[in-house]
Amino acid sequence: MSKSTTPVIELKGLKRRFGVGDAEQYALDGVDLTVKKGEFIAIMGPSGCGKTTLLNIIGLLDRATDGEYVLDGRNVEDFSSSRHAKVRAHQIGFVFQNFNLVERLNVIENVALPLTYSHVSHLKRLERASEMLKTFHLGEREYYMPWQLSGGQTQRVAIARALVNDPSIILADEPTGNLDSRSSHVIMEELSEVHKKGNTIIMVTHNPNLTTYASRVITMLDGRIDSDTKDIVVEEKKPAAKRPLGKATKTTKATKTKTTKKRATTKAKPKKKPAKKTTAKKKEANT
Ligand SMILES: Nc1ncnc2c1ncn2[C@@H]1O[C@H](COP(=O)(O)OP(=O)(O)OP(=O)(O)O)[C@@H](O)[C@H]1O
Ligand SMILES: [Mg+2]
Repeated sequence: MSKSTTPVIELKGLKRRFGVGDAEQYALDGVDLTVKKGEFIAIMGPSGCGKTTLLNIIGLLDRATDGEYVLDGRNVEDFSSSRHAKVRAHQIGFVFQNFNLVERLNVIENVALPLTYSHVSHLKRLERASEMLKTFHLGEREYYMPWQLSGGQTQRVAIARALVNDPSIILADEPTGNLDSRSSHVIMEELSEVHKKGNTIIMVTHNPNLTTYASRVITMLDGRIDSDTKDIVVEEKKPAAKRPLGKATKTTKATKTKTTKKRATTKAKPKKKPAKKTTAKKKEANT
C-alpha cells in the first residue's frame, strides 16, 4: 500500500565514542543499517549495548563520532544547524520511556508543545492537539494535569504529542517500559495504527512479546547489530494486532516463535535437531 522500498535512513559504519583515554568506550562500534519507508523496526539487546545511543543519533539529538548517516538521501553531516532543528521538529517524533510530559502544563498544552515553533496560531495549535487527543480517545482528558493520568494514559498523551507534527519517522525508546502488560498492548495497538498509515517506526523494547507488532526485529550487542530479521510478513501481523486485548498473548507467542526460528537460522545453531533425535532414540530404547 503506502509501503515503498525507498530507504529513509542509511547508516554506514556508524560509531559513537564516549570518554577519552582509559575511559574511552564505543557505545556504537560500526552500525550498518538501512531502514525503508514504512518499516516498523523493533530493536532489542542487553542494557548498555547502544540502543538509546543509536536512536539519539537517528533522531539528531546526538552526533556520530565516525561513519555516515544518510537521511532521505542526504548526509546529515551536511545539514546546517537550522536544517537539523527543522528535521527534528517536523520529520521526527520521539516517545520516551519516562513519558517526559511537562508537569506544569495540562494535557492539551503538552500535546501542542511541538507546534510552538510552527507558523500556526495558538488557537490552531490547540485545535490540532485536541484532534490528536481525540484519536487517542483522550478527548475528555484535555484539561487534566499529567499527574492526574494513569501511566497508560500518560504514555498515550506522549505519543499524541510525538505525532502532532505529523512526523514520518517515529522513534520510541522503550515506550512501554513503565507500563503493565495490558497498557503496553494498548500502546502497541496505537503504534500499529500509526504504522499502518505509512509511517516508519523504530522502537526499542526489552519485551520480546511486543516485537510481534514489528515488521523487522533487530538485536544489538556491544554496539553492533547482532541479528536482523527483516522479512516478517506484516500482513500476517496486522490482524493479530487488531484482536481484542485478551487474545493478544496467544498471537504474540505464535509470532514470537517464528521470529526466534529465523534468528536461530541466522546464527546457525542447529543444535535442537540432534537433541530431538536423542530423545526419540531414548523413547525407542524404553519401549
Ligand atoms: N553521555 C554518555 N557519556 C558516557 N557514556 C555514555 C553516555 N551515554 C551512553 N554511554 C555509554 O554507552 C553505552 C550504551 O549506552 P545506551 O544508553 O545506548 O545503552 P542502551 O542499550 O540504551 O541501554 P539500556 O537498555 O539500559 O537503556 C553504555 O555503556 C553507556 O554507559
Ligand atoms: Mg536505553
